[in-house]
Amino acid sequence: MAKILDGKAVSQRVKDDLKKETEKFVKDNGFAPGLAVVIVGNDPASRVYVNSKKRACEEIGYYSEEHALCESTTEDELLNLVEKLNNDDKIHGILVQLPLPKHINEETIINAINPKKDVDAFHPVNVGKIMIGNFDFLPCTPAGVMELIKESGISLEGKNCVVIGRSNIVGKPQAMLLLHKNATVTICHSKTKNLKEIAQTADVLVVAVGRAQMITGDYIKEGAVVIDVGMNRLENKKLVGDVDFESASKKASYITPVPGGVGPMTIAMLMKNTLTAAKKALENK
Ligand code: GUN
Repeated sequence: MAKILDGKAVSQRVKDDLKKETEKFVKDNGFAPGLAVVIVGNDPASRVYVNSKKRACEEIGYYSEEHALCESTTEDELLNLVEKLNNDDKIHGILVQLPLPKHINEETIINAINPKKDVDAFHPVNVGKIMIGNFDFLPCTPAGVMELIKESGISLEGKNCVVIGRSNIVGKPQAMLLLHKNATVTICHSKTKNLKEIAQTADVLVVAVGRAQMITGDYIKEGAVVIDVGMNRLENKKLVGDVDFESASKKASYITPVPGGVGPMTIAMLMKNTLTAAKKALENK
């Protein structure tokens, strides 16, 4: 039976450390790190995420602002807000919650965020820096996954890592972070042939496909570390990952639960990026 990689506990440790560091930062500099979270429309999942981010800011001692805009907000109005936040000295990190309503081009908005305040690391400048391996911010979910893999105690050097999913938010940057740790990385996606066979080669399997319980125990090599980035609501309202926990946990050595695995780590990494952004702002004063 697999051991649980407890994202709730690990994220709490990260946040406790950040809280201590923030107390010192505030004492030394006379201001708190500031995060602005922007949400457009009424997506219920986004609302839950944004509330958690706000709560984490309060817990650690950051200044935070929420900008909740209605569904009919235009792209120009959102661009104006981003520009205002770019120029606001109280704000060191800007997060525009995705997805945005269909009439707003996400790429246009991401490109408008000052890369120095881009705590999601979605801006092309930051994406490029991650590719090169010389970065200020790590994207929050992949960074959270790396922390959980570290927690499992396995060294990634020379290991076979398989990432299922190729999104800009998770799959692609995840593969890059694993590569930076000298793993041999395979990225699989919806067009991959022999997905199961490839997954079975993984010492570390990271799943971010967005399909409830798709990855069952027969995809998993005995003793693999299994990281489930998925978050899906079943018809009976139960929250489940992309991995079928019951069958997978019989094969894996370590596995993340859903909820309580990657989710809380993402928020902890966002908080870490916000403090980094505030420190960077000091350097530029
Ligand atoms: N929507 C789902 N995950 C994320 C994330 O990490 N950042 C933002 N901005 N939106 C998201």
